[in-house]
Amino acid sequence: MLLTGPDGLKALTAAHDHGRALPGFVAYNLETVQGIVAAAEAHPGHPVLIQAGSSPFRHAGRDPLIRLALDAAAASSARIGVHLDHSRDLDEITVCLEAGYTSVMVDGSHLPFAENIALTREAVRRARDHGAWVEAELGALPGDEDVSTNAAACAAALTDPAQAAEFVAATGVDALAVAVGNVHGFTAEPVRLDLDRLSAIRSTVPVPLVLHGASGVPEAQLRAALARGVAKINVNAELRRAYLDAISAALPAALPGSDAVSVWSAGRSAVAEAASRVINALS
Ligand code: 13P
Repeated sequence: MLLTGPDGLKALTAAHDHGRALPGFVAYNLETVQGIVAAAEAHPGHPVLIQAGSSPFRHAGRDPLIRLALDAAAASSARIGVHLDHSRDLDEITVCLEAGYTSVMVDGSHLPFAENIALTREAVRRARDHGAWVEAELGALPGDEDVSTNAAACAAALTDPAQAAEFVAATGVDALAVAVGNVHGFTAEPVRLDLDRLSAIRSTVPVPLVLHGASGVPEAQLRAALARGVAKINVNAELRRAYLDAISAALPAALPGSDAVSVWSAGRSAVAEAASRVINALS
């Protein structure tokens, strides 16, 4: 069933209060949506978020992916929110809110501080009309959302705790994505989160924190982040790699008969297994 905005925010707050986190899984197509839903159904009591857009809209088309994610969540026995990830575009945010998205991330992290505040405030205003909750970002994350680039953390762009407190108070945002050494995609060297910075942010910021770039972060680091206020983690590259490994392995047997269905199924199962591993790691 679709986890409504208010219920999703309650789940996020409860996770924050108990040192747990909701996973936000990025979906690009039918098989990734179905794999995420299968993982959620295998873990009753663990709400998840399907992050459908904004970058995946370029692959799947905006309206088809919106419908796919919302319909799959609504038809499931699991509690699944549908979330817009990394949107810089208020029109896109409005389209998703009107369609029924239960949360959105407005990403003004590339903007000067005052402009990030202004963009985020407007997204919060629009989301309130639809009962959706809002995540914003302060500090910049290296790497790419769709491709692993072996990026390294950039010390200059880490989230400043005092600025984070000011930002949250000025915007009324429900959750804050932070840059604490995390990177989008896999990295050449294992990520080492700046846990002291995370603790400092937690002590100044009252809302749940969000850790983007969770793929490849060692489990001990993830657990340490959960103990310091992170209540949502975003996972994309791990699902992409699982999908690609599975379809590569399935191809030789499928090619002689042009059996595309077996390849797609293998990809879907691999996404479900990878998402399940993440849910288990957060439990
Ligand atoms: P990864 O690709 O590193 O899992 O990051 C996902 C993410 O942060 C999406 O917003």
